[in-house]
Amino acid sequence: MQRNLLVALVGLAAVAGCWLWLLPADNGPNDADMDALVQGKAKRKSAELAASERAKTDLALLAEQGRGQQLPDYLLSEIDRVENFWFIGKPDSHSGVQIPFEPGSLPLPPPDSEPLNPNPGFLGADACQECHAEKHQSFIHTAHHRTSRLALPEEVSGSFEEGHNRMNTSVPEVFFTMEQRGDQLFQTVNFFDWGFEVPFHIVIGSSKMAETYLYWHGDQLFQMNCTHLSDPGAWINSPGFLDGDAIYSRPIRSGCLDCHVTYVDYRKANNHYTPKSMILGISCERCHGPGKDHIDYHRSHPGDKKSKHIQVPSKLSRQAQMDVCGQCHTANKAPKNEQAFQFRPGDKLGDHYDPIEVPENASRGVHTTNQVGRLALSACFKQSEMGCVECHNPHRNERGQLGLFSKRCLECHQQEQCGMQDELGSRLADNCIDCHMPVRATKNLHLETQDGNIFPPLRDHYIRVDQQATDEFLKKTPE
Ligand code: HEC
Ligand code: HEC
Ligand code: HEC
Ligand code: HEC
Ligand code: HEC
Ligand code: HEC
Ligand code: HEC
Repeated sequence: MQRNLLVALVGLAAVAGCWLWLLPADNGPNDADMDALVQGKAKRKSAELAASERAKTDLALLAEQGRGQQLPDYLLSEIDRVENFWFIGKPDSHSGVQIPFEPGSLPLPPPDSEPLNPNPGFLGADACQECHAEKHQSFIHTAHHRTSRLALPEEVSGSFEEGHNRMNTSVPEVFFTMEQRGDQLFQTVNFFDWGFEVPFHIVIGSSKMAETYLYWHGDQLFQMNCTHLSDPGAWINSPGFLDGDAIYSRPIRSGCLDCHVTYVDYRKANNHYTPKSMILGISCERCHGPGKDHIDYHRSHPGDKKSKHIQVPSKLSRQAQMDVCGQCHTANKAPKNEQAFQFRPGDKLGDHYDPIEVPENASRGVHTTNQVGRLALSACFKQSEMGCVECHNPHRNERGQLGLFSKRCLECHQQEQCGMQDELGSRLADNCIDCHMPVRATKNLHLETQDGNIFPPLRDHYIRVDQQATDEFLKKTPE
C-alpha cells in the first residue's frame, strides 16, 4: 500500500500543481538516530558514519567530474520527515522527483553491519552442489535461481549502448540514460537542467517478461525508476510509476524479497536489511527447508545414505504441497508483521501470511499471478490429486516446451477426449496448452510508457474449454 501511496502522491501532487501540502513539519530525530540512542548501538552508528564519509568522498570526486549537482534555484525541494524522502518539483511542471537521499548527494553505500537475527540455516543453492551435482547443474538455469542476482554488466539485459540506452518521457527535459563505467552501471536522471545518478545493485526478474532493479541507500533497498521490458526490448517505467516522474523512493518491503530472494536479515520496518546476509536467487531451500543441519549431518556421517533434516514436498499432503508453492504463487497476501522467510515446508500458509483484501481485478495484486488460486478452479484439479509438480519439474528450466507439457496432460487424458480431435488429428498432441491454458494480458499488471500502457501477458492456470483461445489458435496455426 505504502509504495502505491508514494506514487499516487507524486501523481496527485503533480496534477494539483501544488505539492508542498505533502510535507508535515517534524524536526525530531530520525529513526536511525533514535535507534542509536535507545539501543546504544555505537558500533553500528560509527559504521554508518564511516559509510557516509565514504559517500562524501565519492561526492567530492563526482563534483570534480561535474556530477552530483547542487539543486538550481528554480527547482523547489522539501523533505517528508515521515517517509524520509525528498520531493523535487518545478512550479509550472507536472513532473516530480522523489529520492530518499538529499538532493545534490548520492545514495550511501551499503554498510558492512552484522545481522541482527540468526540465519535459520539458509545457505543458498551452491551449498548443495557438492552432493547433488546433477540437480544443481540443471537448477541454476531455472527462473527461480535467476530471479535475483547482482547487477553485474553481463547480468543486465537492457542495453547501455548509445542510441539504445535512453528512456524518454512526454516531458522533453525529463529523461533517463543508462550508463556503464567500468563494472558499475548507473541510471542517470535528467530533470530540466539538474540531474543525479543512482547505481544498479540488484536485478529482480529472470527476464522472461521483465527485469527491475534495486539499489542500496545505506541499509535500505529501493526500486529504480527504469525497468527493462524483454519483449520488445525497451527501457520503461517500473510498474505503477507515472510517465514524466523520476521515482527512486519506493521502498522494497520484506514481502517483495520473500518471493524473490532466498533469505535476508530484516532489521526493521519498512525496508532496512543487512546487506551481507542476503542470499540471492530462490534456492532449493525455499521448497526443501534450510539446508544447514542436513549438510552438517551428512558431512559428518558420509556412510549414511538415508537423508536427515530435509523435507521433500511430494511426501506432504497435497494442500501442504500447494502451500509450499503458495508462499510465492498466491497473490494478495503479506508476511505477518513483515516477518518474511518464516514459512517451512509442512507449515500452513495462514500461519505466516495475512490475506490482503482486494476487490477482484484491483491493480494491487502481486503482478496478479495466482497460479494456486486459478488452478484450484479447474476440473482437473477438483477431480484428481493433481498438484503443481504433475506438470512442473522444479529442478529444470522447461520454459516454452509446450510439447513436453502436453505430454503431461496426456498422462491423465486421451487425445480422443478432446472435442477438436476430428478437426486437428495428430496436430492436437503438440499443444493442448494454448487452447486450454491461454496466455492473457491482465488489467492488474500494467506499465506506463511515453506511448501509453503495456499489459504483459501471463499464462492462465484455470484449465478449461475456451472458445476464444481455440479460435485464435486455429487462426495462427496453418492446416
Ligand atoms: C554432504 C553431502 C550433502 C549435501 C551438501 C547436501 N545433501 Fe542432500 N542428501 C545427502 C544424502 C547423503 C542424501 C540421501 C541420499 C539421497 O537421497 O541422495 C540426501 C538427500 C536429499 C534429499 C532427498 C530426501 C529424501 O528423503 O528423499 C533432498 C531433498 C536433499 N538432499 C536436499 C538437499 C539440499 C536442498 C541441499 C543444499 C541445501 C543438500 N541436500 C545438500 C547429502 C547431502
Ligand atoms: C520463494 C518463492 C517461490 C517459491 C516457494 C516457488 N516459486 Fe515458483 N517462482 C517464483 C518467482 C519469483 C518466479 C518468477 C521468476 C522470474 O521469472 O524472475 C517463479 C517462477 C516459476 C515458474 C515459471 C518458470 C519459468 O521458466 O518461467 C514456475 C513453473 C514455478 N515458479 C513453479 C513453482 C512451483 C511448482 C513451486 C512449488 C514446488 C514454486 N514455483 C515455488 C517464486 C517462487
Ligand atoms: C507473492 C510473491 C511475490 C511478490 C510479493 C512479488 N513478486 Fe514479483 N513475481 C512473483 C512471481 C510468482 C512472478 C512470476 C510471474 C509469472 O510468471 O507468473 C514474479 C515476476 C516478477 C517479475 C518479472 C520476472 C520475469 O522474469 O519476467 C519482476 C520484475 C518482479 N516480479 C518484481 C517484483 C518486485 C520488484 C516486487 C516487490 C516490489 C515483487 N516482484 C513482489 C512473485 C512475487
Ligand atoms: C520450487 C521448489 C523446489 C526447488 C527450488 C528445489 N526443489 Fe527439489 N524437489 C521439489 C519437489 C516438489 C520435489 C518432489 C518432486 C517430485 O515428486 O516430482 C523435489 C525433490 C527433490 C529431491 C528428491 C527426489 C529426486 O528427484 O531425486 C532432491 C534430492 C531434491 N529435490 C534436491 C533439490 C536441490 C539440490 C535443489 C536445488 C539445487 C532443489 N531440489 C530445488 C521442489 C523443489
Ligand atoms: C492429474 C491428472 C490430470 C492432468 C495432468 C490433467 N488433467 Fe485435465 N482433467 C482431469 C480430470 C480428472 C478432469 C475431470 C474429468 C474429465 O473431464 O475428464 C479433467 C478435466 C479437463 C477438462 C475439462 C474441463 C471442464 O471444465 O470440463 C479439460 C479441458 C482438461 N482437463 C484439459 C487438460 C489439459 C489441457 C491438461 C494439461 C495442461 C490437463 N487437463 C491435465 C485430470 C487431469
Ligand atoms: C496441468 C499442468 C499444469 C499444472 C498442474 C500447473 N502448471 Fe504452471 N504452467 C503450465 C504450463 C503448460 C505453463 C506454460 C509453460 C511455458 O509457456 O513455458 C505453465 C506456466 C507456469 C508459470 C509461468 C507463468 C507465465 O505466465 O509464463 C508459473 C509461474 C507456473 N506455471 C506456476 C505453477 C504453479 C505454482 C502451479 C501449482 C499451483 C502450477 N503452475 C501448476 C502447466 C501447469
Ligand atoms: C485448437 C484448440 C484445442 C486444442 C489444441 C486442444 N483442445 Fe481440447 N478442447 C478444445 C475445445 C474447443 C473443446 C470443447 C469441444 C466441444 O465441446 O465440442 C475441447 C475439449 C477438451 C476436453 C473435454 C472437455 C469436456 O467438456 O469434457 C478435454 C479433456 C480436452 N479438450 C483435452 C485436450 C488435450 C489433452 C489436448 C492436447 C492433447 C487438447 N485438448 C488440445 C480445444 C482444443
